[in-house]
Amino acid sequence: MKTHSVHVCKECGTTSPRWAGRCAGCGEWNTLEEGNAHRVARPVRAVAAPLRGVQTSEGTLRSSGIDELDRVLGGGFTPGSTTLLFGEPGVGKSTLALMALRQRALEGEAVLLIAAEESAAQVATRARRLGEIPPNLLLCATMNVEDAEDLIRLLKPVLCVVDSIAAMSDPSLPSLAGSVPQVRHGAERLCAAAKFVGASLVLVGHVTKDGELAGPRTLEHLVDTVLRIEGDRDGSLRILRALKHRFGATSEVGLLEMAGAGLRDLPEASLALPDDLEVSGVAMGVATDGSRSLLVEIQALVATGSGAARRVAHQLSSQRLSLLLAVLEVRCGIDTSTSDVLAASAGGLPALEPGVDVALALAIASAARGFAIAREVVCVGEVGLAGELRSVAGLSRRVREAQRLGARAVIVPVAGELDEVAGLRISRCRTLGEAIEVAQRHEVVKVR
Ligand code: TYD
Ligand code: MG
Repeated sequence: MKTHSVHVCKECGTTSPRWAGRCAGCGEWNTLEEGNAHRVARPVRAVAAPLRGVQTSEGTLRSSGIDELDRVLGGGFTPGSTTLLFGEPGVGKSTLALMALRQRALEGEAVLLIAAEESAAQVATRARRLGEIPPNLLLCATMNVEDAEDLIRLLKPVLCVVDSIAAMSDPSLPSLAGSVPQVRHGAERLCAAAKFVGASLVLVGHVTKDGELAGPRTLEHLVDTVLRIEGDRDGSLRILRALKHRFGATSEVGLLEMAGAGLRDLPEASLALPDDLEVSGVAMGVATDGSRSLLVEIQALVATGSGAARRVAHQLSSQRLSLLLAVLEVRCGIDTSTSDVLAASAGGLPALEPGVDVALALAIASAARGFAIAREVVCVGEVGLAGELRSVAGLSRRVREAQRLGARAVIVPVAGELDEVAGLRISRCRTLGEAIEVAQRHEVVKVR
């Protein structure tokens, strides 16, 4: 090894390229001695340990008590990790975070809520709606990063929620509270403290109207997990997604319902086939969202237009709607060019991908021609410009899910692997025209 001569302080180990009377590191006099660079003596603080002996986080995940949240997290919160939970105002961030805190506290663990936006009384009002408040759920209403950090280090909570990170600031910094440097600095300090004591940290964030994380998009790379909670303010459905997840897949989707006592896992029953009165303009489809298949009820209304024909797509893709209307007109002779066409995924479940084309097209055909399709018929497939039915990703998974929730017959494209399932009639259709005929044969009530 090539070495070169250096001077090393025998007191503190500071090196210097040439001799000096006084060490620049510790200020002692006459402590520099000549030595070789590779022999520089300095106390070693870093530790290396055999990787095979390192504990994994498996089995140490902390359940939030909310199945749908755990599903998105891949089982629960990882110790020492930081999760950013963001969404629009009023969507239920504080409620979800508080429910997770309450669950861990009910399990007998110490948990901490840093309330930076609301008063203690406001937090207590929300908490009372959720039920009994365990004594080990601690609250500190502060906006001061240092105070929050001290509490995390002192109390070593298993779970700590900071609501919200945007409101936290360090008064010793020159920048304004809520500014990007403040929020970043706050998040960094709190993450470090949480990691040090092994706490799972949840930072609540805001989004502005355009969907950007208010100010700190920069927080995303700093945290381990980014969760977004979305939903219609008027509806009760809430959808939880992982946009980043260092500990697992980001394809899981959580479905929750805002109820009188907090958020709850969306009951499977509400996704099952509705047994309402059969009417025209309704077709059942299966949409996929991440790794999840969701049974969706597609509704369409074709009404005499007054003036310019309107097209409205709610929780459906308006591009797919336009394309399907053109295909219906040109390939199937169902002309809606002078009518208003309103289409929606009932219940607000998003069905934006092409796999629901057949269901949407059949709902429109059913509305335009006035026949009702039996609810136990579920339609899966994409529609091409030639009017052909095309296979879609996860076809067999979608069909299995439909059957599990009560489907008795499916309308699917000719292509695409499907397992034979007992009790399920599979109608393979080449074109949308064929699918309409089959759907009409499944007709239950003549409406018009
Ligand atoms: P909140 O968690 O405060 O939303 P965020 O922190 O995202 O702004 O909850 C907002 C709404 O949820 C509020 O309008 C009241 C409603 N809510 C319920 O319907 N049920 C409940 O049990 C709770 C706690 C809130
Ligand atoms: Mg809130």
